[in-house]
Amino acid sequence: MNTLVLFYSLTGRTHYEAKRISEEIGAERYEVCERWRRTMLSAYFFGVAQARKRSFIMTEPLAVSPEDYDSIVLMAPIWGGFPAPAFNSMVREIPRHKEVEVILTSDSGKMRDRAGLKHYLEARGLIVKDIRVIKTEDLMKRERRYRKRMLKAELERKDGE
Ligand SMILES: Cc1cc2nc3c(=O)[nH]c(=O)nc-3n(C[C@H](O)[C@H](O)[C@H](O)COP(=O)(O)O)c2cc1C
Repeated sequence: MNTLVLFYSLTGRTHYEAKRISEEIGAERYEVCERWRRTMLSAYFFGVAQARKRSFIMTEPLAVSPEDYDSIVLMAPIWGGFPAPAFNSMVREIPRHKEVEVILTSDSGKMRDRAGLKHYLEARGLIVKDIRVIKTEDLMKRERRYRKRMLKAELERKDGE
């Protein structure tokens, strides 16, 4: 079964998770970018309200065709409890009757209105396999600790030479 990991990331955490997950399951991955560069300020001022309304946003045209895949993993950060607006743009690109798994990332590991999201996806004709949220802060801290450990080991090895 060929799977596509389609993701949006503003600050890199979802990107990191998308890379990890796509490598784990041997899937292709593709990053969706907003048409206009998003600043952190506009993410908080406008993005959160757009996310809450499940509005979509103009994104760069996809250079992959979701049609060609058996299943799609959709990944995006949580903004104000809801998937970032680019998530809604990605959803519009998926043909009806396609199987989707949703993996969202957030600092708290929580999201709001999971049932509403499932309903939203099903109303667009998608088959929802799973919806889950990854708590990213901990994973990033773990990664930093791991890098520090590796660096320390490397320095100790060089000292010993
Ligand atoms: C505008 C904005 C709103 C956010 N709202 C929430 C939130 O409601 N709950 C939460 O746990 N994290 C929230 N976060 C944190 C992100 O969901 C989290 O850091 C995510 O993993 C970032 O993904 P990215 O680096 O791929 O953009 C918010 C971040 C931004 C920029």
